[in-house]
Amino acid sequence: MNKSGATMAEVYNHALAAWSISAAWEVGFFDAIREHGSLDAVAFSADRGLDAGSVRELVRALSSADIVSRDGDTVRPGPNFAEADRSKSLFHWMTRGCGELFDTLPDLMRKDNRSGSFYRRDAAAISVACREINAEWWDPVFLPVVETLDFQHVADLGCGSGERLIRLTGARPGVRGLGIDLADGAIEVSTKAVAEAGLSDRISIVQGDATALEPRPEYAGVDLLTSFMMGHDFWPRAEAVASLRRIREVFPDLKHFLLADATRTTAYPDSEMPIFSMAFEFAHAVMGDYLPTLDEWGPVFEEAGWRLVEQYPISVPAESVMFHLTPA
Ligand SMILES: C[S@@+](CC[C@H](N)C(=O)[O-])C[C@H]1O[C@@H](n2cnc3c(N)ncnc32)[C@H](O)[C@@H]1O
Repeated sequence: MNKSGATMAEVYNHALAAWSISAAWEVGFFDAIREHGSLDAVAFSADRGLDAGSVRELVRALSSADIVSRDGDTVRPGPNFAEADRSKSLFHWMTRGCGELFDTLPDLMRKDNRSGSFYRRDAAAISVACREINAEWWDPVFLPVVETLDFQHVADLGCGSGERLIRLTGARPGVRGLGIDLADGAIEVSTKAVAEAGLSDRISIVQGDATALEPRPEYAGVDLLTSFMMGHDFWPRAEAVASLRRIREVFPDLKHFLLADATRTTAYPDSEMPIFSMAFEFAHAVMGDYLPTLDEWGPVFEEAGWRLVEQYPISVPAESVMFHLTPA
C-alpha cells in the first residue's frame, strides 16, 4: 500500500480497466447495460460481431474496477457503473485520443526528437470524446447563457465534431454557422455530421488556424463566436493577447464571444488529482504546449481589447471555466 491507497496490482489492472472503458463505450456496451439492466456477454458479442473471448476479458477488467459485476457470462452494473458511464468520454480522450502519444512517451521526452510535428494524436477520437464531455458537463453551463443572446450567425473556433454549431443552428431557423478547425480529422468528422444533420446549406466548415486568422469575406456578419476546449492553444501569454486581438479585428460584427476551456490545476496533491486533469496536463507538457491557470486568463482579455462580462465555473474537468466576452 502507498499514500494513494492502491496496490501495484490494482494500478496495473486499473490501467487495463481504463482502456476497457473507452472500448466498451465504442462497442455499445454501456448503452446496452443502461438500457437492459444487464447483459449476456456471449449474446452481446454475437449481436455485435465481436469476439466473445475478448469481450469476457474486457468485462473482467471492468469488474476489477467495480464498474460491472459478473456471474458467469451475466453482466450487471457495479457500484462504479453510473460514474464510469458518465465519465467514459474522459477515458476515451486519454486512451484513444492520446493513446499514441503516451505509447511513444520515451521517444517524445527525448529533446533530440522534439522538433517539427513530433507527436501524433487521433483528432477524430478527440472530437468524439469532446462532444460527449460537452454534453455531460459543459452544455449545462453554456446553453442557459447562449439562450439569453440574440444572434444570427455563429462561428465556432476549433469546432471539432461540429456538434455545437449543429445544436445552435438546427434549433434556430435562419441562423447560420461557420466552423473553423485546424485538424483534418475534425474537418472530416464535422463536415459529415453537418451533412447528416441536413444543415450543409446553413453551416460551412473551413480549415484554418485560430491563432493566425486572416480576414475572410465569410467572417462578415458573424455576431456570436464560440470556442470550447482549445483556448489553451492561444497561449503562451504574448501569443494569446495577439490572437485574441486578431479575433476581435477579423470578425467586425461580433457582439459576443463565449470562450471555455480547462485550465492548469493548482490546488491538488498528486494522489488526489481529479479525473482527466493529470492526463490533460501531462499530454500538453509532452506536446510542449503552455497551459494557463485560471488566474492567468483574466488580465489577458483587457489587454486584447475584450470586456469580461461574466466568468462561469465548470466542474469537470476540474478548474474549467467559460468566459463571456464582448468587444471593449
Ligand atoms: C479538444 S477539441 C474540442 C472540440 C470542440 N471545440 C468541442 O468543444 O467539442 C479542440 C479542437 O480545436 C482544434 N484546434 C486546436 N488548435 C487549433 C487552432 N490553432 N486553430 C483551429 N483549431 C484548432 C483541434 O483540432 C480540435 O478539433
